[in-house]
Amino acid sequence: MTDRTCDLATDAAVRARSVARYRRRAAGYDATCGPTWPIRLATIETLGLRPGDRVLDVGCGTGLSLPLLREAVGPNGRVWGIDQSPDMLAQARRRVAEAGWSNVHLLETPAQGLRLDDRVDALLFHYTHDILRSTSALDALLGCARPGARVAVAGIKFFPRWLAPLNLWVYLKNVGYNGAPGELRTPWDRLAPRLTDWEWQPTQWGMGYIASGRVPEAGGR
Ligand SMILES: C[S@@+](CC[C@H](N)C(=O)[O-])C[C@H]1O[C@@H](n2cnc3c(N)ncnc32)[C@H](O)[C@@H]1O
Repeated sequence: MTDRTCDLATDAAVRARSVARYRRRAAGYDATCGPTWPIRLATIETLGLRPGDRVLDVGCGTGLSLPLLREAVGPNGRVWGIDQSPDMLAQARRRVAEAGWSNVHLLETPAQGLRLDDRVDALLFHYTHDILRSTSALDALLGCARPGARVAVAGIKFFPRWLAPLNLWVYLKNVGYNGAPGELRTPWDRLAPRLTDWEWQPTQWGMGYIASGRVPEAGGR
């Protein structure tokens, strides 16, 4: 098996586990997101969106970030939300239909292999651990962005070493949401080397993070 075939097989297994998990979680998902709301606001703020911008909400789930993104880019911008879970996306669809936004586009698709009809100015990865761990997903997503596009990421990670005993709890918390729950020490380490201006800061006493960077300008990093 080549490395590439092996990656694709892993991706498929991880994705299947994730879809099954979100089938069970979708109905109660929004009710669990209250405590991370300040992180959502701060992460979106990091994108520095302006009216008219085009933004991609990667793994948009039930669409909790969509109203904030739509408000930031206004009626002349564009928002895409993509997610592979039909159960999560059904709720996002209801949200968009009720709001009547014509410039918010939802696609039920894996991030792996994604193509859009336009290049985006900004990418949001809000609690999308499995996607961050997939090289083929990152290839496709960064390919949808214009050079210089802004990227913001938030998620869960292990506590620093001095709080290591608590990491069993972090791992068990993550298992319920992700098909590839490991790699929690530096979950961003497949994305960060592909961006410029990368920076990150811990949240929640070290068990979370917010990070940002930029897609390199054409011709270099
Ligand atoms: C923890 S939820 C986050 C949802 C949303 N970003 C939020 O902040 O509320 C992770 C989402 O990523 C989606 N997801 C996981 N792997 C994916 C993949 N390979 N392609 C597309 N979506 C994926 C799941 O279906 C789920 O809706």
